[in-house]
Amino acid sequence: MQKKYAFDYELLDHAGLLSDSDQALLNAAIKATETAYAPYSNFKVGAAALLSTGQIVIGSNQESASFPVGICAERTLLNSVGSQYPEATILTMAISYDPLNKPSEAPISPCGMCRQSLLDYENRYHAPIKIVLAGQSGQVMVIPTASCLLPFGFDGSILK
Ligand code: THU
Repeated sequence: MQKKYAFDYELLDHAGLLSDSDQALLNAAIKATETAYAPYSNFKVGAAALLSTGQIVIGSNQESASFPVGICAERTLLNSVGSQYPEATILTMAISYDPLNKPSEAPISPCGMCRQSLLDYENRYHAPIKIVLAGQSGQVMVIPTASCLLPFGFDGSILK
């Protein structure tokens, strides 16, 4: 039996075409790149989450002299929301980046570990997280739920 995995997403020519709420969240993610600690890669990533409470929480990548110890912006943010706002759910997460001395015009794409963490969070709260991906300018991708980004991802329910 042949099967196919596909999902719909939006590709916008520029951030001005986002809803006001998504645009504000993306601006918060762009601003959050300023809080990154990325002396080794010089690649600053910022993420911002809109919570069900209406609050916006940010995260950024935090690197380590022992490289694998560093953590991506998305997981910094998910861990922060999970511990500080356990009663809230994340409605939308916007992610952007600043590659220092280069333009950032193409949407960023989260790494595999972060995709797993996003899926874990969606499964934990039984709620989809809309993902907004962008650079500091240029096209923007809007993905309806993080689980689209990790087909056949590992789901902890199999452990129970
Ligand atoms: N990074 C993120 O924070 N998020 C991503 O989606 C991709 C990569 C970070 C990890 C590392 O600090 C730097 O970017 C270069 O890989």
